[in-house]
Amino acid sequence: NKDQIPFEEIGGHETLDRLVDVFYTNVKNHPDLYPIFPDDLTETARKQKQFLTQFLGGPPLYTEEHGHPKLRARHLPFPITPTRAKAWLLCMEQAMDEIGLEGQLREDLFQRLTFTAQHMINTPEE
Ligand code: HEM
Repeated sequence: NKDQIPFEEIGGHETLDRLVDVFYTNVKNHPDLYPIFPDDLTETARKQKQFLTQFLGGPPLYTEEHGHPKLRARHLPFPITPTRAKAWLLCMEQAMDEIGLEGQLREDLFQRLTFTAQHMINTPEE
């Protein structure tokens, strides 16, 4: 339905909850990623759900609680190499596969996330 915002079209909170939970399970199991993440990803996942909700045009949950996303600045404490950006995107691609997210909406979201992930790179290859 073209009248819907992407957040609704994708299936709202129900879909994003599943996507983000599978995504962080993948992150936890990825050798290049888990060392830079906290052991307990509960809060990280909660923030990511808020962020993706507004990224897809839904209510601005992230900004309401945490202020302007300033994602690149918030990632500066973590060494994000090109390899880690690739790994992050792979975890996301596999999460999309696992929850059965398909079609144009998936392609568009993945494209935007690819762009954002490139922008987060702040450290040359180790
Ligand atoms: C937080 C890694 C890309 C959205 C974080 C944290 C790490 C991280 C280590 C901190 C977790 C914590 O302390 O709870 C990475 C790596 C990326 C990447 C390695 C590879 C390029 C992205 C992208 C997005 C994103 C593309 C956009 C969807 C977020 C959000 C947070 C976060 C919303 C929470 C920020 C906050 O603390 O308020 N990320 N990230 N990240 N990341 Fe990423």
